[in-house]
Amino acid sequence: MIDPKLKVLISSEQIQERVRQLGEKISEDYPTGDLHVICILKGAVFFAADLVRAMKRDVQIDFMGISTYGKGKTSSGEVKVTKDLDISLEGADVLIVEDIVDSGVTLNYLMKVLDQRRPHSIRIAALLDKPERRLRPVHVSYVGFEIPDRFVVGYGLDYAEKYRNLDAICVLEESDINAG
Ligand code: IMP
Ligand code: MG
Repeated sequence: MIDPKLKVLISSEQIQERVRQLGEKISEDYPTGDLHVICILKGAVFFAADLVRAMKRDVQIDFMGISTYGKGKTSSGEVKVTKDLDISLEGADVLIVEDIVDSGVTLNYLMKVLDQRRPHSIRIAALLDKPERRLRPVHVSYVGFEIPDRFVVGYGLDYAEKYRNLDAICVLEESDINAG
């Protein structure tokens, strides 16, 4: 069902293989303890679902909604929690699972918010990283793929709520966006 206007950057097979590797690595890094996986809605839903199934250990899963005020390609820099966690993080090892780190504004803010909840540790897993675009520092412990400064969609990532259900990561060209 891939739209002919989209160019595949990372295939479904590449994603699945990389997620399996990350799941194994995370399982090794957290052999014991209470691990809370926090999936950032909505973009990280597919990544988080596959990642936790690649982990060889028990986890608790919770969801957080973050709005960065923007429906298009760039976030405005203002961050707001739109859906908070259901489970306390006190004393837990926390793994934030995000779709992509772009400017770093969202995760830089979220790390500060979650740090105040007295977890034992916090790390970030992001499927994609666009290091060239960073405005705020963010340490990402588990990166799926580093990508160039291109707007991508699929496997959870959207453009104006479209394309989330593609099974590959695809580049959406500027001309295609303008053509609608
Ligand atoms: P940051 O706060 O600029 O790091 O942006 C993070 C959020 O921006 C991600 O969670 C995505 O929702 C969105 N985003 C950044 N780059 C892309 C992209 O290439 N495609 C789709 N969404 C993106
Ligand atoms: Mg997002």
